[in-house]
Amino acid sequence: MLWPAEAVWEGVSPLLPGFTVEILPQVDSTNTELMRRARAGRSEPVLLVAEQQTAGRGRLGRGWRSGPGGSLTFSLGLSLAPADWSGLSLAVGVSLAESLDPAVHLKWPNDVWLSDRKLAGILVETASFGGGEAPRYAVIGVGVNIAAPQATGLSTPPAWTGEILAGADAGQVLLRLIQPLVQSIKAFEALGFAPFQARFDARDALRDRAVVLGDGTAGTAHGTTESGALLVHTAAGMLTVTSSDVSVRPAA
Ligand code: BTN
Repeated sequence: MLWPAEAVWEGVSPLLPGFTVEILPQVDSTNTELMRRARAGRSEPVLLVAEQQTAGRGRLGRGWRSGPGGSLTFSLGLSLAPADWSGLSLAVGVSLAESLDPAVHLKWPNDVWLSDRKLAGILVETASFGGGEAPRYAVIGVGVNIAAPQATGLSTPPAWTGEILAGADAGQVLLRLIQPLVQSIKAFEALGFAPFQARFDARDALRDRAVVLGDGTAGTAHGTTESGALLVHTAAGMLTVTSSDVSVRPAA
């Protein structure tokens, strides 16, 4: 596969001095690899794309499986010093959704959905290796389904970009979303989640829907707070769900 590495570099390097692009045929996980490098002292801004991951990771300790050519898997690594980290993964979701299609929605905290099916997933991880406070090293991992999924065994088959961007391959999808993504991350660093809140709410797939939290609590989703927490109206009153370790799903 031919990757538009140079065009990506040209779009992003004015925003991130020292930025490099790297395409690997195979790696365990692009997130894991960038964290390994940062631990070894390599924390310059980088986009790492893998044609295949052998141990892709998702949120909540889950795996992320993708066949070669069937998906776009990448991680962006960079040092960031926002005043408040809350809402970063939501801001990433807003950016991806806006770059992809008006029909793309977001399921809190950061699943990218098309017609209630998962189109892309986001795994944001941060670490501090130098000791002291800011900046921290952030790895923003994104997996996008590009090809129609094979039989997955999932009750709801995933969505894929061919449904909205006919004929676009992984490289073209990457080129479409990477520069706006870096711009969004820089905006988040300067301004936090505030500029993204209304944009998230405009694409909120759970808005006013019956939801069930991971612990079985039932309620109705009422959008996000200014720090990106999910508001859920339950029998016990309004709950503010902050932990991204919590899973939320629409009630059956
Ligand atoms: C989720 O939906 O649970 C998040 C999935 C994130 C997958 C991407 S693929 C590129 C990057 N490397 C990983 O190991 N995970 C992320």
